[in-house]
Amino acid sequence: MVNQSIDIRPIAGALGAEILGVDLSCSLSNQIRAAIFQAFLDHQMVCFREQDLDAARQVEIAAILGNPIAYPYLAGVEGVAEAHELVKTPDDVVNFGGVWHSDTAYKPKPDMGTVLYACEVPDAGGDTLYANAQLAYETLSDGMKQMIAGLVGVNDSEALYPGGRASRIGHLSEMKGAYNDGSEPMQSEHPIVRTHPDTGRKSLFVSIAHTLHFKNMTAEESKPLIHYLANHIVKPEFTCRLRWQTGTIAMWDNRCTQHFAVNDYSGQYRRMRRVTIEGDKPA
Ligand code: SIN
Repeated sequence: MVNQSIDIRPIAGALGAEILGVDLSCSLSNQIRAAIFQAFLDHQMVCFREQDLDAARQVEIAAILGNPIAYPYLAGVEGVAEAHELVKTPDDVVNFGGVWHSDTAYKPKPDMGTVLYACEVPDAGGDTLYANAQLAYETLSDGMKQMIAGLVGVNDSEALYPGGRASRIGHLSEMKGAYNDGSEPMQSEHPIVRTHPDTGRKSLFVSIAHTLHFKNMTAEESKPLIHYLANHIVKPEFTCRLRWQTGTIAMWDNRCTQHFAVNDYSGQYRRMRRVTIEGDKPA
């Protein structure tokens, strides 16, 4: 296929679009690359169907968004350090990413974007949900916006796993991913309201998965508001749902979205390949 123009079709009112007319295995002009990047900014999550990509080409495609980097807790795949497999076998119970979150919010510079490719998917189930954290911020009352304006969240890589690090090692081992156990737990402080460096829009940057408490406040004091904001972000009207097919690839903007991998395919196999993009310090 010759890549000459692209057709962008929104998949929900809040966020998400499917891009048609592009074969990502072929050379892409600067114009097409720029159009894909603009669609990513406009729709926060974009996907392409029926693509045939190995790990190296996926990393090249991910570079449309920025600088691909390795995920600290998983080893590379196909000899590519920045590409990682997420596998759930019929025997596994837990899945990777089965909680609302923005990727690596616990890093000093959380990942800007994620590029996920479906290698093998269940007959039904295994969809990913996305939420628009910009719309969530914009629909708060002025009083709530004023109250949270100066709040800083303490984000922790272990918050998701009540048993701490040992629990996470167990989780990733069970997932059969190649666990890179040289990495240490991470914790970083980021504003609860961040401004998108490309669009200037503000969004909520807080989750039950990673935000332990607000800076200078106890967990007990912080939790009710963390829960309120986290639940507000994922109201149905701020979300979309991606139904994967083998060969689907999605790109999402972690600076203004959250996502949730639905674990509803017990006894079936799902294999995804994931590349993340270096981010900057939220401000
Ligand atoms: C993730 O949280 O990055 C994984 C999402 C998925 O597997 O659907």
